[in-house]
Amino acid sequence: MLSAALLLLGYLAGSIPFGVLLTRWVRGVDVRQSGSGNIGATNVTRVAGKKLGAVVLVLDALKGALAVGLALWLLPGEPRMHAAVGLAAFLGHVYPVWLKLQGGKGVATALGVLVVLVPLAALSAAFVYAGLVAAWRVSSVGSLAGGVTAVIVAALTAPSLEYAGLSALLFVLILWTHRGNIHRLLRRTERRF
Ligand code: G3P
Repeated sequence: MLSAALLLLGYLAGSIPFGVLLTRWVRGVDVRQSGSGNIGATNVTRVAGKKLGAVVLVLDALKGALAVGLALWLLPGEPRMHAAVGLAAFLGHVYPVWLKLQGGKGVATALGVLVVLVPLAALSAAFVYAGLVAAWRVSSVGSLAGGVTAVIVAALTAPSLEYAGLSALLFVLILWTHRGNIHRLLRRTERRF
């Protein structure tokens, strides 16, 4: 019962579309109608500026971190449930019930989940992302390289197989949510910031 409630809560937390809500409230625009059309921090930065982008990044990460933190607190010693709740939050962001299942790409929410479960993997991924974006100004390259980094570091440092497995699964799902970006990268038509 508690497990089911945590999974539902994780999904519902993940499905809060902060990017859509904040750009609408603060700027009166729909982030889905501009730039890449994505609801995440990258496109919010393009559409509404760095400050709002940073706020959305933090909030999208926080919803993943809080959901997993709650699972850790209420069900200590159940790493499979912690990983499942993290996955539920990620899927909530990507397939939010409020947006007819048309959500974001999940990078910030995955980062928040990993900050709690495998902090070194999250930190390494964030460093790689920041370095690549500073050099190339292409967010998807940073997200994909950060994802690979998280998988490797989690495989080496995660305290449980479930957390390492979740990191790998999140990366596979991020590859899927970035399929359009990968296509554009290969054709050299990917957007910059
Ligand atoms: O986290 C999303 C980022 O990797 C790509 O965003 O808006 O360029 O598709 P965008």
